[in-house]
Amino acid sequence: MGACPTIETDRLVLRPFRDDDLDDYFAMMDTPEVRRWLHLSDKFDRDAAWAQMAGLVGQWTLRGTGLWALEERSTGRFVGRAGLYNPVRVDWPGVEVGWTLDPSSWGNGYATEAGIAARDHGFGELGVDRLYSFILPDNLASQAVARRLGFRLLEERVMAWYLDAPHGIWVGERGNG
Ligand SMILES: CC(C)(COP(=O)(O)OP(=O)(O)OC[C@H]1O[C@@H](n2cnc3c(N)ncnc32)[C@H](O)[C@@H]1OP(=O)(O)O)[C@@H](O)C(=O)NCCC(=O)NCCS
Repeated sequence: MGACPTIETDRLVLRPFRDDDLDDYFAMMDTPEVRRWLHLSDKFDRDAAWAQMAGLVGQWTLRGTGLWALEERSTGRFVGRAGLYNPVRVDWPGVEVGWTLDPSSWGNGYATEAGIAARDHGFGELGVDRLYSFILPDNLASQAVARRLGFRLLEERVMAWYLDAPHGIWVGERGNG
């Protein structure tokens, strides 16, 4: 399928994860805010973060989808992850646009900026007609990002891979972004 491309936006570089992102990546995932909103289990430790990072890189090779590491252009700082997520998973409706920022970078519009680049890559290079975001009903900040991408709430239902609460299934269609 090909490797993860590098994309530049006004303020960000979306680039492949590197092995030396691990400390920054785990620091982000280990913040109380990100742990809370992603419902990470206590077992999600530095080793699990590395395996996840490796899986994100590998998904690009296997499927042409995956998440990018987000770097702030003005500083070179790692600020988060975003991209197109499409794992092999029972009850996975299609390619998801996803975003997570280090809390120190919330409130700058970076998730929206990266989300737009991911959305455009999905509708463009990847050639899909529909993109999704799966967002829990109380995650208002993430819903706001989906809205800014032109996505709408299709339905709310419990997904087989997360039984604790229904997910909102947000959808974006090519040509409506
Ligand atoms: C979801 C998440 C990425 C949203 O981050 P965010 O910083 O609120 O979202 P954006 O990057 O789009 O930024 C929007 C905010 O930046 C502000 N902003 C400042 N400068 C801006 C600019 N130049 N352009 C756009 N927005 C700007 C907006 O006004 C908005 O602020 P508000 O929330 O007070 O209205 C973040 O909350 C997060 O990482 N959460 C934990 C992980 C998570 O839940 N992931 C999603 C799972 S479904």
